[in-house]
Amino acid sequence: MNKLMLILLALSLLCPAIVLAKGDVNLTAPAKDQALTKLLMTRHSVRAYSDKALTLDQLSNILWAAQGINASGKKRTTASARATYPLQIYVMVKNVTGVDPGIYLYDPQNNKLTPVPKGEKRTSVVPDAVKQDWVAKTPAVIMISYSKPEKDLGDKTLMFVSVEAGAVMQNVYLMCEALGLGTCAVGGYDAKAAKEFFLLKPGEEPVLMLPIGIPAPAEPAK
Ligand SMILES: Cc1cc2nc3c(=O)[nH]c(=O)nc-3n(C[C@H](O)[C@H](O)[C@H](O)COP(=O)(O)O)c2cc1C
Repeated sequence: MNKLMLILLALSLLCPAIVLAKGDVNLTAPAKDQALTKLLMTRHSVRAYSDKALTLDQLSNILWAAQGINASGKKRTTASARATYPLQIYVMVKNVTGVDPGIYLYDPQNNKLTPVPKGEKRTSVVPDAVKQDWVAKTPAVIMISYSKPEKDLGDKTLMFVSVEAGAVMQNVYLMCEALGLGTCAVGGYDAKAAKEFFLLKPGEEPVLMLPIGIPAPAEPAK
């Protein structure tokens, strides 16, 4: 390496801007003192859980983050194409203190859980619906489902629904991170079996599962 190359290398290490191509803009680092930055920095998928129960308060916060009514009084924690809110949030309660096991539907307007008829004591989504053993350990499993929005969104409907489900997913990940809980998106489920297990209504389709629990102490490295 000749002298000029060495000087250029040293300069590029000292001043990263020198390696920018014409027109590139160096961005600043994320603001470390922002609460949201900290959550985004540590957000990750958890697949190893302890046997501990969730509290009702923990579950309530997670469900509110998923689709709760925000400070506007009528809108939600996620954006929605033409404010159609086509998603439903079902939850299988297996081990939540003070809540009978079974399948429930989240009611955002009243911030409550409504038992789904015939869903009592349904507490294990494996193996028919999900062939991922770790899911069986989690004390609660959310299923995001969708039904055709009342307002016609045209041929982009499915795309918009998927985008909204992604927003729900991220809210749940971030609330889990904030509360010291864990989750992991599960798209690898059998749609027919999952639909039957969560007792979705006719016209509703499953989108994404989100098991929730307390991370195991020796959670494997990500
Ligand atoms: C739509 C979607 C479906 C996923 N399905 C599964 C799944 O079935 N099983 C699983 O273990 N992880 C699943 N994941 C989690 C990804 O594997 C995980 O997000 C990815 O490995 C990045 O790791 P991180 O979330 O810890 O950053 C899914 C993620 C998304 C967004």
